[in-house]
Amino acid sequence: MTNAAITGWGACMPPAVLTNADLSTFLDTNDEWITSRTGMSERRISHVSAQELGAVSAARAIACAGLDVQDVDLIMYGGCSNEEVVPNSASGVQLLLGATKAASVDINTACTSFLYGLASASAMIQSGMSKVAVVVGVELISRYMDWSNRNVAVLFGDGAAAVVLQASDEPGGVIGTSLGCDAEARDTLRVRGMGAGYTGFGVTYGDMIWDFDGPNIFKRAVRGMAEASDKVMREAGVTADDIDLCIPHQANLRILESVAKHAGIPMEKVIVTVQKYGNMSAATVPVALVEALEQGRVKPGSLMLMPGFGGGLTYCSLLVRWGQRVTPLGTSDRELRPATKTALEMVNEIRSKQDPHGRSREGLMAPVFSDSKVGAA
Ligand code: ACO
Repeated sequence: MTNAAITGWGACMPPAVLTNADLSTFLDTNDEWITSRTGMSERRISHVSAQELGAVSAARAIACAGLDVQDVDLIMYGGCSNEEVVPNSASGVQLLLGATKAASVDINTACTSFLYGLASASAMIQSGMSKVAVVVGVELISRYMDWSNRNVAVLFGDGAAAVVLQASDEPGGVIGTSLGCDAEARDTLRVRGMGAGYTGFGVTYGDMIWDFDGPNIFKRAVRGMAEASDKVMREAGVTADDIDLCIPHQANLRILESVAKHAGIPMEKVIVTVQKYGNMSAATVPVALVEALEQGRVKPGSLMLMPGFGGGLTYCSLLVRWGQRVTPLGTSDRELRPATKTALEMVNEIRSKQDPHGRSREGLMAPVFSDSKVGAA
């Protein structure tokens, strides 16, 4: 059987840091609340597009695999904060990379987009449809955040990372997947203002309003990730003792701890980045994977569990068996252009465009879906 080995990896984190103290300059919040409820101390705000973040991370992953951009036949772009819907974002990454032979696909399952993309691209390689795939997890949430809402504004950040998958006869890569969706709870997380349901109804840039039932999402996230992890381990015939590393979606430290406890995996085996990057949605798992590799925590043959959940509410858990190589074959000289503003300056700029329209638009936005069963506000 053909396997899909992970042979390259690379991250691209925007340099500007938004601290909890920065957030408390314009929100009724404080460092104590944010760190005790979420584990987050800071997050990044991007000065470039999501496609640029994605392209730089992909270039680094391709160099790490010792490949040329022309070797890539598939780009899978996982994320939900795309700059545009048409044209898609993967085509923008293809252009920025110069990877002209690559099919270019966007995949949006919110925070699980990278993991769903990894599962899908692995299956395409296993079927023979693709030989060299790049899977990118990338988000630019700062641009569609409702910065007046402390319930959500403190939780998210920007970032990107990518992996390269290659057809291989060696066993390894994604060896188990469990994908699911708790659609009954899809109304617990909605970003009003994004999508065709709003376009043409007078809703303009910056009019984002988040419906966000944090405690309900919390409970369902733990349940979804725990059940998916149980299932994927059971089906692969492995137990928690066999897991070398757990690389979960990073939405809240307390969620990570609950999922690890349920699975019977000690926290020493869990990669945690939420304290410094917050929730980067689709980018959290690949960024954590890259950091684990850079810190030497991934060993040849490591068995990894990757649980995730996101809007939808989609959930999943993947089992990945790492190959023999844990060091890069090459490096890329692709860099982001320098940021000229601080994170707080960038956020204040976005806030100034959102106000004064955003909050007063709620009444206008709700009727958009009034004659539709799906998405009724
Ligand atoms: N600063 C200060 N106080 C706050 C803040 C804030 N930033 N946000 C909320 N509060 C207040 C609330 O108003 C509430 O006050 P009240 O009791 O006077 O009404 C109080 O803090 C408690 O709020 P809760 O919602 O009960 O706090 P909880 O302990 O549940 O933590 C949190 C909230 C962090 C959002 C948690 O529920 C959570 O992490 N949920 C999951 C979120 C998540 O995973 N989101 C991602 C979804 S999918 C994706 O990744 C896209």
